[in-house]
Amino acid sequence: MKAALSLPAFAALAMAGPLVPRQDIDFVLVEDAPDPTLVMVPVGPTAQSVTYDLAAATRSATANPLPVEAVEKRGATLVARSPCQPQPSGSGPRVSPDTDNAFLSSTELSSIAAAAPIPTDYSRMFVNLHASSSAYGYQGFTTLESYDTNLCAAKCNDILGCFGFNIYFERDPSVEPAASCPNPSSTTVIKCVFWGGLVAAENARNDGQWRNNFHVVISGSNGYMRTTVPTITGFNGQYLGNASINAPNDCNGKDTYMGSKIFTTTSFDPRLCSAACKSQNDYNTAHPPQNGRPKICKFLTTYVVAVNGRPEGQYCAMYTQPWDSSYATNFGQWRGNDQYTVGLAFSYSNISSPGLPVCPNDIDYLRSQGSEFCTSYVSYSAPTSTVTAPATTYTTQTITSSVTSVTTTTRTSTIT
Ligand SMILES: *[C@@H]1O[C@H](CO)[C@@H](O)[C@H](O)[C@H]1NC(C)=O
Ligand SMILES: *[C@@H]1O[C@H](CO)[C@@H](O)[C@H](O)[C@H]1NC(C)=O
Repeated sequence: MKAALSLPAFAALAMAGPLVPRQDIDFVLVEDAPDPTLVMVPVGPTAQSVTYDLAAATRSATANPLPVEAVEKRGATLVARSPCQPQPSGSGPRVSPDTDNAFLSSTELSSIAAAAPIPTDYSRMFVNLHASSSAYGYQGFTTLESYDTNLCAAKCNDILGCFGFNIYFERDPSVEPAASCPNPSSTTVIKCVFWGGLVAAENARNDGQWRNNFHVVISGSNGYMRTTVPTITGFNGQYLGNASINAPNDCNGKDTYMGSKIFTTTSFDPRLCSAACKSQNDYNTAHPPQNGRPKICKFLTTYVVAVNGRPEGQYCAMYTQPWDSSYATNFGQWRGNDQYTVGLAFSYSNISSPGLPVCPNDIDYLRSQGSEFCTSYVSYSAPTSTVTAPATTYTTQTITSSVTSVTTTTRTSTIT
């Protein structure tokens, strides 16, 4: 993301109090990372699958120092279409009269979308929009025989890294529009599109296109997100919504923040951040600083960072100890006229070894209680253990826009 640093940004930075710590979104990190590329779900084909290569994504996320690596391009080979060639017909209701306006105002289509059941373990993010999603982490799509939200959810559940889906009616041409058939009759296609990122009203931005004189438009577009926190072995996960952690210093006045990475090439996946945390620990242990023990990552927050609504990638911040959701107060920042926002935020803490330091109060307590303290300290576990995101919090998020990248690369900021 390239943006000029304008005067108001300096003013904003200057006004930032001493409590605004290093763990705010790192503008340079975001700016230096390659932009995710916009994905348009193709009109015409009946399905498209996208393989999310977790192993490759993890290698990229853990590369340190970070070389530019090539990830394979998405397999979006579009078949060349001949003029007036018949196109796949959809299974949705025919709208009469056969015009874009009738399609957009069809109460038949809107009532089907409004009445569609919310699948188990999903929450509805939006209903009946006239645009489809353009989110982070494109995972392919399929066409359905009916507007079946449960079937679309079941397919999402089977896709590694699918966080949510967008289902809608699309007014497609019955034949490929060309000079000799500029505005053919339409067919109503029901699409079910899978996303490995936040599906929200703010990023439902594709409102159709013109194919010659034929107007492709969308009706009854609904979005759904899974409400469960992805599990990572050895970590306690918690959903933080549209805020990440702003941690104070620890009880000994030490900064627990270690640094951040951004991943822009794949799907949003908290496991990429936990892999980066683990590999950072290996690196730090192998390269201890001269003046003490290295910081060890025991806690992380990860989220989709967006600039003016456009997703820029998956942010991953590392800490030496857990902080509970009461510290989730970092909703993003303004940089001049550019708004940086947080969405789909999760935190994860090391279950077996939370990394909590011995505090001065503990020492006092130890002096007064003797060995009892040791027993209680050893069995202390981190105070972050929520496993299910409350469905309602999803609907109030403000992360917008959506894009997926087909390029490659991650960048890191300095880990101190
Ligand atoms: C938790 O911390 C311990 C001690 O540093 C480490 O051995 C373990 O691998 C960590 N767990 C995970 C899942 O990273
Ligand atoms: C974040 O979400 C909360 C509700 O969960 C909402 O009140 C708040 O305005 C949102 N903040 C931003 C910056 O979008």
